[in-house]
Amino acid sequence: MASPERGVLISGNWKMNANHFEALKLIQELSALLRSHGGVPEGREASVHPPFTSLRTVQTAIESDRVPLLLGAQDCHAADRGAYTGEISAEMLAKLNVAYVICGHSERRQHCGETDEQVRAKVDAVLRHGMRPIVCVGEDLAERQRGEAVHKVRGQVAAAFSKRSSEQIAAAVIAYEPIWAIGTGETATAADAEAMCAEIRDELVGIAGPAAGVARVQYGGSVKADNAAELLAQPNVDGLLVGGASLQAEGFAEIVLAGL
Ligand code: PGA
Repeated sequence: MASPERGVLISGNWKMNANHFEALKLIQELSALLRSHGGVPEGREASVHPPFTSLRTVQTAIESDRVPLLLGAQDCHAADRGAYTGEISAEMLAKLNVAYVICGHSERRQHCGETDEQVRAKVDAVLRHGMRPIVCVGEDLAERQRGEAVHKVRGQVAAAFSKRSSEQIAAAVIAYEPIWAIGTGETATAADAEAMCAEIRDELVGIAGPAAGVARVQYGGSVKADNAAELLAQPNVDGLLVGGASLQAEGFAEIVLAGL
């Protein structure tokens, strides 16, 4: 189990699912389920990351019903405002009481061509506005088969965090998401997830010293209610980033409470 000092963060990435009517239903169901289990226990946090058009609806539901969940976003632009048609800034997200912003998800790196430099600039924006970034890193299948996974992941971590202070790093979350495990039903073994999460922590400590080691490191990629507890039992896995399984209230509630 992750260290009590760091705590656990379970995040549901809804991706391009749930219009605001569906989002409201999902958050209400999830909230009722978590409440019936006494809420999210001490030392654990859970965030939901709806699409931009559902953020305000979910924010209102969370705040008016005191739902035991934190609001998250899936992306942001690096600039605060300006001529960037179609983009959403970190400043705008902060106004909606967003707590966590996913930066550099592999789907954005792949489909939108996001580079390490752009991901770093997004992390700057998120930190500048008092929120916490969840920075996604991970290798594809070919890189894993060539034995380059550790090199790739450490490189992505360094690109996002080099030259940052231990305070900035400690405020961040890193999600290890092997690309071959996302949406495929293939999960890294708990031992593989643990090994890479330990590499990530080691890289962070190498950048800014031991205080940086309290950053939380999540695993993501085909997490389900039936594998969540084993993953969370690993000493360097401080949480989970859940895609598909976060769209079902019951399954996600089970993951939020897994291993307790
Ligand atoms: P998945 O997605 O749980 O559907 O594999 C995880 C993610 O992309 O964050």
